[in-house]
Amino acid sequence: MQTDSHVEQTHLSANTSANRIVIFGASGDLTRRKLIPALYHLFNHGMLPDNFSIIGVGRTELSNDSFRQHLQQSLPAEPRDQATVSSFCHHVFYLTANPSEAAQLAPLAAGHAQQDSKYPGGNTLYYLATPPALYAPIAQSLFSLGLNRQENNWSRLVVEKPFGHNLASARQLDRELHACFNEKQIYRIDHYLGKETVQNLLVLRFANTIFEPLWNCSMVDFIEITAAESLGVEKRGAFYERTGAVRDMLQNHLLQVLAMVAMEQPATISADVLRDQAVQIMRLFRPLTDEDVRNHLILGQYLASNVRGENLVAYREESGVSAESRTETYVALKMYIDSARWQGVPIYLRTGKRLPTRATEVVLHFKKTLHPSFTGVAPANKLIIRIQPDEGILVSFGLKRPGSGFQVQDVAMDFHYSDLSGAVMPDAYERLLLDALNGDSTLFARSDEVETCWSFIQPILDYLQDPAHTLYGYAAGTWGPQEADQLLATDGHAWRFPCKNLTSTQYCEL
Ligand SMILES: NC(=O)c1ccc[n+]([C@@H]2O[C@H](COP(=O)([O-])OP(=O)(O)OC[C@H]3O[C@@H](n4cnc5c(N)ncnc54)[C@H](OP(=O)(O)O)[C@@H]3O)[C@@H](O)[C@H]2O)c1
Repeated sequence: MQTDSHVEQTHLSANTSANRIVIFGASGDLTRRKLIPALYHLFNHGMLPDNFSIIGVGRTELSNDSFRQHLQQSLPAEPRDQATVSSFCHHVFYLTANPSEAAQLAPLAAGHAQQDSKYPGGNTLYYLATPPALYAPIAQSLFSLGLNRQENNWSRLVVEKPFGHNLASARQLDRELHACFNEKQIYRIDHYLGKETVQNLLVLRFANTIFEPLWNCSMVDFIEITAAESLGVEKRGAFYERTGAVRDMLQNHLLQVLAMVAMEQPATISADVLRDQAVQIMRLFRPLTDEDVRNHLILGQYLASNVRGENLVAYREESGVSAESRTETYVALKMYIDSARWQGVPIYLRTGKRLPTRATEVVLHFKKTLHPSFTGVAPANKLIIRIQPDEGILVSFGLKRPGSGFQVQDVAMDFHYSDLSGAVMPDAYERLLLDALNGDSTLFARSDEVETCWSFIQPILDYLQDPAHTLYGYAAGTWGPQEADQLLATDGHAWRFPCKNLTSTQYCEL
């Protein structure tokens, strides 16, 4: 295990040495769609230092020029300033190598050494944008070349999701990574934590005085977190077959967002304090019993449908997917947190592909009024935190309908981030890449958080192993299986539909 080092605190802006960003899996989808555009935006906004270089590594044979041309296609078409693009490309290089074979990375080490002789103390961010099976072998390659070492510099490893396939494999991966890099050098990406509105949860709760007194079981009736995607699995069918909605979304993003919603007040907004609070609340997630899994978990898979004239294929017809697949593309779960603050408050989480819209939001449903004149007529208040798209906050409450009597009408105060003049909402990857370069791990998952989340969902993973587990079909373009509506209806609750013009229409069991 490597020892911790003070250089973790080195701030990028104060650094005059070479800064290298090495991307493994540089020919892949994530690099093209997310990493390169994010780095380009940072460059365009003057947030990368002059002497940085981006080195793509992959087995695909590419020259520097052909890699530069390949990545230019992923840059925004509009507005396009060719001079800026060319200037950005000057910082980009490519190494053809199989990264799990250390010898093939020798030119990388030689390049670093050459740079460091010119600009001593070069720092390097290694980004693992490869299939997960390569995370440990690449870390081992870097270790064997001494590229993990930090002396007068820093060396960090950014690890993409999924981090493991279950608790045992996450622990195994941690052991393998920790044999090469220390925990402070490892940055586990959960791109939901890079979203401005997720971070805003902390500001909303702790920089204001009006919300926190309401943030507890006396006032909150139930909590709902929805992460809906309108797309199907696109070209990633083979990957999704092995993953499914529970591992892809529930274990990481939804539970991380829930921790931000439910955590106790941190003493400071700093990496370890925040992550201590997150893990503390995660440890209070009430363990799921077999009965909970049978009764409070709804799994679904999308079926073919025609939405507004467009034929959408069933999951089982997607490329790379088995015609008999039982992989879930939808999951809804009811759970509880055994803390004094959240005692007895049901928490409903749901996520799915091919739902009617793309929307991620947290909804706090407040208790209904007990005033005898308004019980049964005044709608419950809601606080809605929209995470994506159209980031913002909406508070709904009752007002007197103008005219005689005391009719109550539901109205909303709706704040959109886009209304903030001059506000630029950075993409989550931009924010996280910059944080990793700056050594700020606040928005990255720590190993104990990841393991606690895997432990929590292990009963679901065990259930998924059972070939007879219940999986409901839902028509693409609907809000998932009807049983997910029932899950709430039996408690007298209902999901909020972020898009009102479409509701569930077809249901069946697979
Ligand atoms: N794509 C997304 O939207 C997305 C979102 C969130 C997380 N992630 C995660 O990010 C990582 C990368 O995703 P991706 O979609 O970019 O993956 P990908 O396109 O499947 O793979 C990335 C690159 O890895 C290299 N690679 C594949 N198999 C290899 C092997 N056996 N040995 C050595 N290199 C191999 C390939 O490059 P060469 O053939 O040139 O070596 C490939 O272009 C994955 O862990 C994924 O789970 C992706």
